[in-house]
Amino acid sequence: MTETKLRWGVISTANIGRAAVNPAIRASSNGELLAVASREEERAREFAEKWDIARHYGSYDALLDDALLDAVYIPLPNSMHRE
Ligand SMILES: NC(=O)c1ccc[n+]([C@@H]2O[C@H](COP(=O)([O-])OP(=O)(O)OC[C@H]3O[C@@H](n4cnc5c(N)ncnc54)[C@H](OP(=O)(O)O)[C@@H]3O)[C@@H](O)[C@H]2O)c1
Repeated sequence: MTETKLRWGVISTANIGRAAVNPAIRASSNGELLAVASREEERAREFAEKWDIARHYGSYDALLDDALLDAVYIPLPNSMHRE
């Protein structure tokens, strides 16, 4: 039987992602941390390298357009959550 994992994208390189959510996805049996986006391409690239994340984007919209993702975690400042 093939195991299907939920493929996550994380919007931003926020502290909460680094400290808690990314490790939690990694530790889960059914989650895969597939992509990260940052306002700065270089920051996204460095973050992806450090966390061994396969895909990185220099804009949040580019990550949202990634059809391979199943779910997106949004650790932006509270005022930006809705948008
Ligand atoms: N820290 C905690 O312990 C904790 C606990 C529970 C919940 N939360 C929630 O998690 C969310 C993120 O908190 P955090 O402490 O991890 O925040 P943070 O480290 O400041 O990260 C927020 C990220 O949002 C992005 N961003 C986009 N526009 C921004 C702007 N105008 N100003 C600042 N950042 C901007 C930045 O990522 P890029 O530069 O990569 O785009 C930044 O790294 C909040 O909703 C907070 O309430 C945090």
